Formats: sequence, structure tokens, C-alpha cells
Amino acid sequence: MSDMLILNGRVIDPASGVDAARDVLLRNGKVAAVEQPGRLSGVAAAERLDATGLVVAPGLIDVHVHLREPGQTYKETIATGTAAAAVGGFTTVVAMPNTIPVNDSVASMAWMLDAARGPVVKLLAMPAATVGSMGARLTDYAALAMAGAVGFTDDGKPVLEDEVMWAALVAAARVGLVVSQHAEDTRLTGGCSMNAGPVAFKLGLRGMTVEAEARIVERDIRLLQEIEKSEGLRPHLHVQHVSTARAMQAIRTAKAQGLQVTCEVAPHHFTLTEEAIGDYNTDAKMNPPLRAEIDRQAVIAALLDGTADCIATDHAPHAAYEKEQEFERAPNGITGLETALGLALRVLHQGHGMPLVRVMQLMSAEPAKIVKLTDRGSLAVGACADVVVFDAAAEWSFAVKESRSKSRNSPFDGAGMLGRVKATICEGRVVYRG
Ligand code: DOR
Repeated sequence: MSDMLILNGRVIDPASGVDAARDVLLRNGKVAAVEQPGRLSGVAAAERLDATGLVVAPGLIDVHVHLREPGQTYKETIATGTAAAAVGGFTTVVAMPNTIPVNDSVASMAWMLDAARGPVVKLLAMPAATVGSMGARLTDYAALAMAGAVGFTDDGKPVLEDEVMWAALVAAARVGLVVSQHAEDTRLTGGCSMNAGPVAFKLGLRGMTVEAEARIVERDIRLLQEIEKSEGLRPHLHVQHVSTARAMQAIRTAKAQGLQVTCEVAPHHFTLTEEAIGDYNTDAKMNPPLRAEIDRQAVIAALLDGTADCIATDHAPHAAYEKEQEFERAPNGITGLETALGLALRVLHQGHGMPLVRVMQLMSAEPAKIVKLTDRGSLAVGACADVVVFDAAAEWSFAVKESRSKSRNSPFDGAGMLGRVKATICEGRVVYRG
């Protein structure tokens, strides 16, 4: 019998509007019942998990991870990356296409999603928006959508040409999926390795300006408006890892105008600033870069007021020898799956008074909507039995040497976290026990 009873927990399920003491019955990979404490105590179940004093929430969903398989399995594999996801409380992750080769076809996506890769949690794929992520010719959106794609993105390579981005938004709208854009005008950021500002000046590094992010967001919003008018379609633009006050303001205005634009914020952007680079710490180098305090405050305000829709890690593992180079040569990216919940609870919940229900919404219900999942991101009866059980009051320190990821490139080694995962359950199977 595969049934599991989770008893005496505080169920926080933003999608169903529940924040109350409840018992949860999981059966055959689905949520079978959510009831007042005591009502399910007579039900026979193979496993009973006592969640007294713990939060029971929908499994976390990350719409932006890099799992490096195929092509760079010395950094990460689907098995190791999804194991790290399970430790962090994630039950669904969306793999970016910047693998080698680029995931831009039904065949490559099928290979990634094959059970033989050994994913520990639910793995979804967002294939490339253009062939080879070269920014020119669109991939086959209809075929990819039918094969299970949850959106289209050229990820680290923004779609720069207006005509190509227009075509991508139209083609994605026709199949009812999102275009997820890395907002960076790379014509303005060549040779830059961090945020433009006083720290870059002090370190003698070339800096990426706020405008380089904002210009692409503003251009894409303009395209949405034009497409709505001229094509009668309602495209969905998702802006990845928004890091600046100015881009966030453009998104706020676009939402007020009723456009279908969503965005994500990465934990490092609401936790750290460019100061974390200190003396050329390459584990604090990522793209978009850590910004100024005013930008950090702006992304926190957006997470609080609803302008930002979700938290996504941009988990980007790199080998130690790659990071141990001069700052300008080291690759962009940090790991993030095991620290996302701990940082969200510490910085947003404890530090800024964000209610737990909003944290859970940003990490489960809202990301599910962005990639159009109807059976995940909620503990409603009938949904997939994807659950995270955690102690919201537990304080702990992240030790990167204990990470399940193959890589160690985190700026949060030794950093204080709030909220410890006790169990991660994916489709009714316990995939991690804390
Ligand atoms: O920091 C980053 N790392 N930003 C990106 O856009 C790509 C990613 C990676 O793949 O390493």
C-alpha cells in the first residue's frame, strides 16, 4: 500500500486558501483527503508522518534550473541536481535548454525527460526559443508543446531582434505557453562581469548597467502591447531573475495595464548586494549580477506587493576549477536549490514580515501557473501528492560541503538559514527525509 498520512501539521496551501491545522492523506500518488485533525485517524495507511509543529505545504516548484545534462555532467547531472532539489523541498524543476547540445528539438527534450536520466523529482523542460539559441530561427513550438514543453526560452542568451521576439511571442501564444526571457541587452554588456557601480569601480571591473536589463524588459512589454492590438492574441511574457528597480517598475506598470507579464526573483538578488563580491569572490558572480541595495530593496518590495510572481533559483552549478580563475574569466552562476527556502524564510518572512502563505505562494502556486501546471502547486484533493514538510522556526547554517549538487559554487557557505526541510514527497514517494 502506498498510502501516507501526514498528521497534525499546519497545512499552508495558498491555492486552496487553507492555512490551518489539517491531516493530509496521500493515496496512489495523489492528494486523497485534507481534513480537520482527527477525522482521518481511523484510515489505514502504510506510513504515518507526525507533522506536529511543522508546516505541510505543496512541494516547491522552480521554473529556472540548469542541470547541465547532456554535455557538462562534470558540473551536474539530472540525478544530482534533482537530488539537491529534493533536499531543498522542491518537487518540480524546469530545466533550461543551455545544455550541450542545446535542447531545441523534440528528440533532445525526450532524451532529457527520459526516466533513464534518473530524476529524483518531477522534471520538466523549457526548450530553446530559437534553433541552437542563436536568436534567429524559431524552434518548432507546436511539436515541442505536444511533446510536453512548458515554455520557450533562450535562457542566458536573450532574444535580441524585435522581429524574432515578436514571432516567438506569437508562436508561443498560439500554443498557450510562455516565452521566458533573460533580460539583458548584450550589446551593452560585452566584457562586463558585475554590476556597474562603486564596487566595480573599486575592483577595476567593467560593470553591467541597470539599463541593459530594463531596455529588454521595456522592449518586450512594447511587443506585447503591439501583438495584442494587431494580432488579437494575448502572449505571455515571463521575465527571468529580475534584478533592478527599473525593470521591476516597468513590469509593475505593464501589469497595471493588464498585459500578461510575469516575473521571477532569485534568492541571491533579494539577499545579497554587489558588496558580497568583496575581494573578487567568483562564487558571488552570476548573471544578472548582484546589484545595489536600492535594487535589492526594490525586488523585495515587488515580492511583497505582488509585482513579482515567483521565486526561482537559477541554480547554475560550475566546477571548482572553473570558478577558481580571475574574476572576469570565471563563469556566471551559483547553486541555489538547497538554500532557496532557507533564504526566503530568513530574509522575506523573518526580515520583512512576509506571511508564510505568501512565501509558499511564490514558491509553489504561482510558479505552477506560469508553466501552466494544473495538477501541481496545490494540495487540493486530486492534485499530485507533491508535499514539503518543514520546520519554519528551525535555524541552521548551510554547509556547502554537504551539498547534494555536484558543484560547490555557492556564496552562502556558512550562512544562516531559517526553516528546515523534514520531508519532501513527490507523487506520493518520499524523496528526501531531513
Ligand atoms: O548566472 C548565470 N548562470 N546566468 C545565466 O544566465 C546562465 C547561468 C548558467 O547557465 O550558468
